[in-house]
Amino acid sequence: MGEIKGTTRVCGLIGNPVGHSISPVIHNTLADLCGIDMVYTTFKVEKGAVDTAVKGAHALDILGLNVTVPHKQEVIGALESVDPLAEAIGAVNTLVRTEHGYKGYNTDILGLERELEEEQVELKDSPVILLGAGGAARAIAFLCVSKGAKEVAILNRTEEKAAVIAEDVNRHLQSKAAYAMKLSDYGKLTGENYVVIQTTSVGLYPNCDDAVIEDEDFYKRAAVGVDIIYNPAETKFMKLMKAQGKPAYNGLKMLLYQGIIAYELWNKCEVSEETAAHILQKMKEEMGIHE
Ligand code: ATR
Repeated sequence: MGEIKGTTRVCGLIGNPVGHSISPVIHNTLADLCGIDMVYTTFKVEKGAVDTAVKGAHALDILGLNVTVPHKQEVIGALESVDPLAEAIGAVNTLVRTEHGYKGYNTDILGLERELEEEQVELKDSPVILLGAGGAARAIAFLCVSKGAKEVAILNRTEEKAAVIAEDVNRHLQSKAAYAMKLSDYGKLTGENYVVIQTTSVGLYPNCDDAVIEDEDFYKRAAVGVDIIYNPAETKFMKLMKAQGKPAYNGLKMLLYQGIIAYELWNKCEVSEETAAHILQKMKEEMGIHE
């Protein structure tokens, strides 16, 4: 890490817990590689103290903050303004300093968008299947519909949660593209060439042999699979995709790019592909990801 001086700008992560986060590695390595006089650390913030923390951060001239669990929704009330996509999603993970407060963004979803672009996974006019209906699925459903997906089938064990997301997305974006299905009804999907995005926690280390759907006929209908899990590096879902000859990607680049995009917003810079590759390698080393 570069020397901390009187001129060093501070950024950080607010959440609880924060000690396990990879974000300090991402941002402090970026600062080193880009030669920017900035340091990044974590701030544990209790529930109910978010507003005070954000106002205090502004008073302390803190350049930017990331926000993690459990504050991604609550923080919105403490902001000066919110990016429209983040506002629609209802979750903010990045605060960028403005004169009178912070502007909120959701770089988790912008990170996935950049990963999909890089892997040439096209959402526009594509049929999409989302597996799961938690916070991540909600954000991804907004991304898919806003990018012009032909249809977005949200499949969840608890169908009602998928229905709430589908209704919210369609209403906000004045679309009919999103719809809910019970996970076990996947056999009713008769289309072809789906972009399938796996957002459930099923398959996460140490349950590496689990996938929400095992049936190979399901994977035959896919064009490509994206799992937002990154540990293990190759999930069962990805293996099932690849067994049908379909490309499959994990969520590590989504995590990388959510950090890079936040960094670019704070420092008004563009991180090169070479630097991004370097950070990705460093993340792999630090995180003890199971291959
Ligand atoms: P996140 O905010 O990261 O998306 P979450 O809100 O906890 O996480 O959502 C977890 C998702 O994984 C949910 O869609 C959950 O399904 P339910 O809504 O029915 O609970 C899904 N999930 C978790 N364990 C599952 C399992 N064993 N089988 C099927 N789905 C599962």
